[in-house]
Amino acid sequence: MPPLPVFRTKADLRQQVTAWRQDGQKIALVPTMGALHAGHLDLIRIAQSKADRVIASIFVNPTQFAPHEDLDRYPRQEAADRDALSTAGCDGLYAPTTHVMYPAGFDTSITPGRVAERLEGAFRPHFFGGVATVVTKLFLQALPDVAVFGEKDWQQLQVIKRMVIDLDLGVDIVAAPTRREVDGLALSSRNAYLSDAERAAAPVLKQVLDDLALKVRDEPAQLAMHMEAGIKRILSAGFRAVDYLEVCHAETLSPWQAGDPARILVAAWLGQTRLIDNCGLD
Ligand code: PAF
Repeated sequence: MPPLPVFRTKADLRQQVTAWRQDGQKIALVPTMGALHAGHLDLIRIAQSKADRVIASIFVNPTQFAPHEDLDRYPRQEAADRDALSTAGCDGLYAPTTHVMYPAGFDTSITPGRVAERLEGAFRPHFFGGVATVVTKLFLQALPDVAVFGEKDWQQLQVIKRMVIDLDLGVDIVAAPTRREVDGLALSSRNAYLSDAERAAAPVLKQVLDDLALKVRDEPAQLAMHMEAGIKRILSAGFRAVDYLEVCHAETLSPWQAGDPARILVAAWLGQTRLIDNCGLD
């Protein structure tokens, strides 16, 4: 297997992308923060089905972490990630340093609108601005035709879709279904933080989402009661707090009204680890 080309600078990345473009090849980008798992490799496979060349990026983006969050302890394992990408047949890794992404004097950011206000936006007010800014920069650096994002971060996916339309970024956004463990826990790089007891409790999130999906469909008038029961069930399974458990409009993330396309989203704390998940009604 040929070694995976690794680009550390915008100039090196651009040189390769420009050469592929001159050959008429279509390019896909899979933005990640590394600590890759099977869910990320699904994104690579989907990208390969949409384009001739696939670049993955690994950048643990400081602007989407608040000072009290887990930026320092976020898992970093670039050598293992490079092996996984190479085995998956990825065509290149873009792994810029913080200095390359945010050189001295950096002073411009993107502020997403209403789709970013509620849920994650309410609990992590810095988060979507940081994501929108770095994703825009990654798009302008890599100039992809297509970019693939996981449905696991459902609100992030909607924020990015809205931003691409609003700013005419000209990148096709493709959504990848959430990859799960056999017991239903959504794969996440943060699952590595869980103790054995926490890991055993974690699948309740998906169980509650699945039950609520049936209830929202069959008894929408009883929504508030079902939500309250869902929160109690998550807490009795061992979670320490539930930031939100809500049914929302699937695209705008505004509060759900009967007839809207629906998505149920949850964020909850197991010890020091915050897990998020979501599901549709089908
Ligand atoms: O979903 C992630 O891993 C990150 O939020 C992203 C999209 C790579 C931006 O840093």
